[in-house]
Amino acid sequence: MDAFLLEGGNPLNGVVSASGSKNAALPMMAAALLLEGECSLQGVPQLRDVDTMRHLLNDMGDSYEAPYDWVRQMRASVCVLGPLLARYGRAIVALPGGCVLGPRPVDLHLRGLEALGATIRVENGCIHAEAKSGLSGATIDLLGPAGPTVLGTANILMAATLANGRTTIQSAAQEPEVVELANYLNACGADIQGQGTSRIQVEGVASLKAVPWRLPPDRIEAGTILLAGAITRGHLRVNQCRPEEMTELLNALAAVGVPIQQGSDWVEVKPGNHLAAHSIQTGAYPGFPTDLQAQWMAFSTRCEGTTCIEEKIYPERFVHAEELNRLGAQIKRKGASALLAGPRTLSGAPVLASDLRASAALVLAGLIAEGETLVRRVYHLDRGYEKLEEKLESVGAKVRRVVDSNGP
Ligand code: EPU
Repeated sequence: MDAFLLEGGNPLNGVVSASGSKNAALPMMAAALLLEGECSLQGVPQLRDVDTMRHLLNDMGDSYEAPYDWVRQMRASVCVLGPLLARYGRAIVALPGGCVLGPRPVDLHLRGLEALGATIRVENGCIHAEAKSGLSGATIDLLGPAGPTVLGTANILMAATLANGRTTIQSAAQEPEVVELANYLNACGADIQGQGTSRIQVEGVASLKAVPWRLPPDRIEAGTILLAGAITRGHLRVNQCRPEEMTELLNALAAVGVPIQQGSDWVEVKPGNHLAAHSIQTGAYPGFPTDLQAQWMAFSTRCEGTTCIEEKIYPERFVHAEELNRLGAQIKRKGASALLAGPRTLSGAPVLASDLRASAALVLAGLIAEGETLVRRVYHLDRGYEKLEEKLESVGAKVRRVVDSNGP
């Protein structure tokens, strides 16, 4: 199994380009089920999650069944549900289980599809959905206990494009990836309005025709790399990104004292003289992304004072805290929050994380830890970061992909 071996202490200086967005790519690949003609997405990142979606779609062929073997590898597989129902009037999709981020129910997805007229039963670990006489437009509220649901909005949006009549989605997710999906579907002939606001309206159309599309940059990857620059007190620019989608992160970095410059498609961090702790609270877009929470925690070990990190989307998303403590951080969990005392000098050790963003946080920590840090099981990282070690190495990081012979 692969691991990353890092030697800390080198500031990252130079320029890195962001890759295409994973979380835009996955639902847009699932949207192929809705489209006539050949779908061509450009700028698709080479990632394990993208491969999983590719295999899932290939294996399904002309069937309407998404088996557990794929769904358990990647929860985003659930976003084939809406397109399958819309296209075939039937879908059998394995029910995704919990994951390391905590409970991740799909009740809102199911409620939304029921509102569109589907009959749904969950049996033997599978969602069986049927809409014999097609789906019909309806008004649906997708507000859950932690706010709107991103993939739930994508699922209902996709199903509604081919439904009869008008669908109104209230409390819709406003994430840029949802906007991109809606814009893509519109280019294919859908009639969607209001994307990027909390109220999306879809007029059903008879058919959709595939058009070529270029994926947007990955705002979470771009943010992670910027934080790699900031944590090492480097002078690092991320090109081919959309700074306007990273406002909360850039504001937080500025509040810490990191000098930032930005253009229309690039952002740059420079070494700050003094880094002051800055507390964050994750939230739905345009809030601070939960997918950058772990990386912010690693970065905050550098900052002077107490940082409070409140996780509002996944209250249990803290597996990285204990691993960061093993490197010398001082982090205490308190319910859905973590308190950090900084600055701390980190020292290298073997560490292990069981989720994608937690692994990224450990890589950031490894960039500043004294001595060697072995981040094990980087297959989590390979799910969502394209050639991260090569990108970091190109700007001065000492990081190598190695075979971890001790690891399971
Ligand atoms: N929720 C419900 N019921 C539902 C669906 C969600 O209660 O039916 C709750 C969840 O438990 C959570 C909250 O609503 O507390 C938000 O979950 P959401 O449905 O928005 O998450 P998701 O759509 O499954 C996407 C991203 C995640 C990202 C979240 C939040 C993709 C493929 N995944 O997941 O990305 O954390 O939105 O922004 O787009 C990652 O890339 O590392 C990742 C986990």
